[in-house]
Amino acid sequence: TDTDIPWSSTGDINSFAHSTARKRWPVILQAAIEDVKETLVTKSGATKDEGEVIVREMTNVKDECVADAALTPLDDDNSSDIHDFNREIEVLGRPTWLNSPWLFSESYMYRRLQIIFAKSTYWKDYDIFKRQKDSTFLKSGAAVKELTLRYLNLVKEMKGAKNMSEDARKLLFTEMVEISLWGNATDLSLLTNLSLEDIQSLQGKEAIKNSQKNIVVNDTDAVWKLMKDVKGGQIDVVLDNAGFELFADLIFIAYLLASGIASTVILRPKNFGWFVSDVTPVDIESLFSMLRDPKSFDCDAESRRALDTLAAELEGHYRAGRIAVRVDAFWTTAHPFWRLPVLDSAAELYEALKNSDLVIYKGDLNYRKLTSDAHWAKTTPFVDAIGPMGRGSGLRTLALRTCKADVCVGLPSEDKERELLEADGKAWTFNGKYAVISYFDGKAK
Ligand code: F6P
Ligand code: MG
Repeated sequence: TDTDIPWSSTGDINSFAHSTARKRWPVILQAAIEDVKETLVTKSGATKDEGEVIVREMTNVKDECVADAALTPLDDDNSSDIHDFNREIEVLGRPTWLNSPWLFSESYMYRRLQIIFAKSTYWKDYDIFKRQKDSTFLKSGAAVKELTLRYLNLVKEMKGAKNMSEDARKLLFTEMVEISLWGNATDLSLLTNLSLEDIQSLQGKEAIKNSQKNIVVNDTDAVWKLMKDVKGGQIDVVLDNAGFELFADLIFIAYLLASGIASTVILRPKNFGWFVSDVTPVDIESLFSMLRDPKSFDCDAESRRALDTLAAELEGHYRAGRIAVRVDAFWTTAHPFWRLPVLDSAAELYEALKNSDLVIYKGDLNYRKLTSDAHWAKTTPFVDAIGPMGRGSGLRTLALRTCKADVCVGLPSEDKERELLEADGKAWTFNGKYAVISYFDGKAK
């Protein structure tokens, strides 16, 4: 079971888990408090009064975190996941914020905030991260325009070419996978460490080209071997961040549909604001309307036409159900994905994912959940680190992740690990410079 594995702990003072919990969580919590305060200015009467109570409750969460208090049981907001959170607190022996499994306490933090809103009368649907998600996306206009033009040209060429060579098809696939992969480099929750300039330098084509040498595990060949013969398949994408990453994912998805590899793509977002920048269903609609809105990005006529063309293509897929959105409460629990095939509460989701030709997990948090966020040797095969999601699971799992945590598996050799340690020290697993494309076919007999 997953409890036998040594999880990353916020109590391990030499880990990124620890510095995240001690330094970055208070910053994230304070920014969320400031966001509510900013909204309060525009409110009056009962909404404002309730908002002031909410600010006080959020401040309590921050104070408990900073004081390294024990994790207290969650209030019941009538959702099915509360019981599991509270049971785990008991099983773990009522741990503290700064001495608990990192994956658990970090998930708890976002769930704890959500309850405050869920229990309110006037703020039920409020997303404390929405303002930040939207404003950051609007700043990535240059990369959005560049990728849009590139996509439209590539697809035009693809459709124009009568018989594309297998090599060319593979290259196009590789390029599209990498666009989606590096879209994950712009994670807002790392903004407390990275400057916007750092982040923007990871966007765009040049950066993608340069970054290929930084993909330390690359199973693209194995994925292509499968996908090259798939026609009209179903692909599921367990989304990560809104804004630029979602945009990059949609480029990849538009390509999968245009090339005929997929006929249906199921997007799997979160139910509420999660790990700062994760996609909620509302963020998907916002992205479409921001692409359409002439005021969003500063565009010349050519770019404007391109954004409209892409938006129309995506909206067409969306209306026709070729791009569908499905939510599930499982994604905002603290459960590692090791439990997905065994939990009763995830049974329906598990069956749905088994129907998919390929399930793509975006980003760092999904990778931590796949690998149970544990201290694996870096050369551990991916299939071993994903436990019940691996052999015999009936699932095809592809992780596209830039490395932003302590865990990383699947390195080809110890020499490779030494090389990375020499270049970046231990930070290679969390500084966002490196990435992995890890794949396992759990349908294979
Ligand atoms: O510490 C990095 C971090 O904030 C982790 O908490 C989390 O795993 C990750 O970033 C979120 O990144 P992503 O959006 O790629 O899942
Ligand atoms: Mg995220």
